[in-house]
Amino acid sequence: MSLGPILCVVGARPNFMKMAPILRALRAAGGQDGPQLLLVHTGQHYDRDMSDKLFDDLALPRPDINLEVGSGTHAVQTAEVMKRFEPVVDEQAPSCVVVVGDVNSTLACTLVAVKKGVPVVHVEAGLRSRDRRMPEEINRVLTDQVADRLYTTERSAADNLQAEGVPASRICFAGNVMIDSLQHHRARATPAAETLRAHGLDAACIAAGYGVVTLHRPSNVDQAETLGPLLDTLATVARDLPLVFALHPRTRGQIERFGLGHRIDPARMLMLPPQGYLEMLGLMAGASLVLTDSGGLQEETTALGVPCLTLRENTERPITVDQGTNTLVGRDRHAILAATAEVLAGRGKRGRVPENWDGHAAERIATDLLAWLRAGAPH
Ligand code: UD1
Repeated sequence: MSLGPILCVVGARPNFMKMAPILRALRAAGGQDGPQLLLVHTGQHYDRDMSDKLFDDLALPRPDINLEVGSGTHAVQTAEVMKRFEPVVDEQAPSCVVVVGDVNSTLACTLVAVKKGVPVVHVEAGLRSRDRRMPEEINRVLTDQVADRLYTTERSAADNLQAEGVPASRICFAGNVMIDSLQHHRARATPAAETLRAHGLDAACIAAGYGVVTLHRPSNVDQAETLGPLLDTLATVARDLPLVFALHPRTRGQIERFGLGHRIDPARMLMLPPQGYLEMLGLMAGASLVLTDSGGLQEETTALGVPCLTLRENTERPITVDQGTNTLVGRDRHAILAATAEVLAGRGKRGRVPENWDGHAAERIATDLLAWLRAGAPH
């Protein structure tokens, strides 16, 4: 009997680089007789910078279905995705739904599918920050509880899942699909000097090195009392190392709303719009240091061997600290400045690339997933 289509769900920026290699690998592994692949975009991210540009950079096919949910509170956004995804599942009768990561769209589509008896496959399962104030942590815990097949990026994830009662038979250690994308596109990355020149920066000004900054977590950017001091600390860092910010729309909005623009030193801190995938890859690869609160950047810097300071108290990606180049510094001014000084003195972490972050994770997923579906998607 032929299998129904596989619905591959993306919603927000960090989903796109995870799904691109999965689609490629499923297409290759399925061959002529493989199940149809349908790409569903929930529309959680919709700006050209946050969505379309990344589709182009990653050579992702146009979505077959776009739910166009847009922004909203967590409840509204999650509910809208659910309402709009349900008829898609009814109409398509999929053999399974593949979700990636930990965004609201991940959980919303998971809930719809499992309640209809459609198997759910979660890629990047089992990561835990143990911080339930993070919306992503709630999305991770709930998605993993009900998903049927769980692909992990690091071995600690299986321990987390089993501690929550998930049977080992559901878990497969596939590796990191984000690094598949990184390896696939690395040679095409836009050189940093080109990106900076395009934004009017004299490349000579960064010849001696620069740092890359991204910030978007609500815990860092949603309160003026937090964001203001963080910008002050970054301005101090920038005295020694010019900083290139790739500004998430949320962060740009908060800087404006709180009137914090004057805390940015325009001579040493270059504010850019959200960058494309190839631009960001080039900027990171050429950086002396990355300061971020993004999950993806913690992993990408580890794969690139670039020191990363994570401006959070915890990480759901401990392997980037244990084996990679990542250091957790929180928001503490002293810790951030001390860690920056270490890196600038040439004592930054060099790290090593973790197991199965080898550019072939999606192939392992595709092989396992198709075999699992053909076996009737057993629990
Ligand atoms: C979402 C994910 C987060 C991920 C991040 C990457 C959840 C809970 N959070 O957070 O895990 O790290 O994406 O970017 O799913 N906005 C725009 N244009 C867009 C999208 C958003 O202007 O295309 C603005 C809107 O003001 C919106 C705000 O950004 O209200 C937040 O967007 P939202 O999708 O709710 O969450 P992110 O902060 O992007």
